Amino acid sequence: MKILIKRYYYHFLNKSRYLFNNYFGKYKYTFGMDWFYKSEIYQNVKYLLDHKNKLEILEIGSFEGLSTTYFIDNFLSKPNSKITVVDPFLLHSENDHITILDKIQIRNFFFNISKSAYPNKVQYLGLTSDQFFDFNKNKYNFIYIDGMHTKEQIPKDIINSWESLSKDGIIWMDDYLGDHGKLKNTFDKTLESLKGEHQVIHRGYQIAIKKLG
Ligand SMILES: C[S@@+](CC[C@H](N)C(=O)[O-])C[C@H]1O[C@@H](n2cnc3c(N)ncnc32)[C@H](O)[C@@H]1O
Repeated sequence: MKILIKRYYYHFLNKSRYLFNNYFGKYKYTFGMDWFYKSEIYQNVKYLLDHKNKLEILEIGSFEGLSTTYFIDNFLSKPNSKITVVDPFLLHSENDHITILDKIQIRNFFFNISKSAYPNKVQYLGLTSDQFFDFNKNKYNFIYIDGMHTKEQIPKDIINSWESLSKDGIIWMDDYLGDHGKLKNTFDKTLESLKGEHQVIHRGYQIAIKKLG
């Protein structure tokens, strides 16, 4: 009840249009935007990852944690499985304007994680992906790149993720056909330049590759 009152309060305070419906909707999570449940990764990831194996997942760009909570609830049941989430909570508009996410969106992230099956298996880092890769030495089985979707950032995120990917690991990337197809060439050229073998395992609005042995 206390949480409900809090949700009403934030709803009115922030005029978050969708929060009301979604709170009482089909999901247990609170969110204002749904980029995830309509996405190709949501349709496919259950066929690619096996929760019976130990999994280390890296997510670049979590927003309110919808994709994050899906990964937690469905793939982290093994004791040592975990997810690292990298998000500075900054949004970039087309004219290079940078704004911090609304307070309600940041609160939704932490609220949603707390409601997930394994909040203690989440490492949240309030960093840009560049800052994270500067020190990261871990390897991941699955990396979801859904952070800053610009021509400058996409190659850096792909190459850094490739270096942090285990053998047989998968990188799933959002916005391959984003910005009316203007980003596709950047993705294609970067993927061609990767050292070592990979196989494209999905190509649609999003694209995914697997690291071969
Ligand atoms: C499209 S949203 C992520 C949506 C989320 N994966 C989902 O499916 O619900 C993009 C997120 O990337 C974050 N972001 C922006 N710049 C970033 C950067 N340089 N590194 C990592 N994340 C970044 C933003 O704060 C935002 O939360």
